Amino acid sequence: MKIATYFLSTILTLSVSFSSQAASIYAGQAKAAAVCSQCHGIRLTSAEAPFPPLAGRNEEYLESALKQYRDKTRVSEIMNNIAGSLSDRDINNIASYYSRLKP
Ligand code: HEC
Repeated sequence: MKIATYFLSTILTLSVSFSSQAASIYAGQAKAAAVCSQCHGIRLTSAEAPFPPLAGRNEEYLESALKQYRDKTRVSEIMNNIAGSLSDRDINNIASYYSRLKP
């Protein structure tokens, strides 16, 4: 039931609107810390980790993956819900942040 708890708290976090006009990488960092890190920031040994790591991944890949989750061409119950509430700007910011983060 851990996943359900993460999911609920994510919905709550996402419903708080994010209005910073700061440079995108900082906006991405704030959003990632508030939302994504709840799952993707969890460090477990790779065999146990249910969440793919995002740090240091290709920026275009992250962006396209998030857009695919948003328009449901890539299916994941969790990520479809999360990405569904991201704007293009959020996606750009987050991809820019994670791609520059050291793995
Ligand atoms: C409730 C847990 C949870 C949260 C919160 C979460 N994710 Fe995910 N994420 C997952 C899971 C589980 C997968 C694997 C889904 C799949 O099989 O496609 C995933 C997959 C991804 C992938 C694809 C990675 C790959 O290797 O292809 C990206 C990109 C991603 N998430 C980005 C994000 C971003 C950005 C956020 C914050 C806005 C976020 N996630 C928040 C659980 C979560």
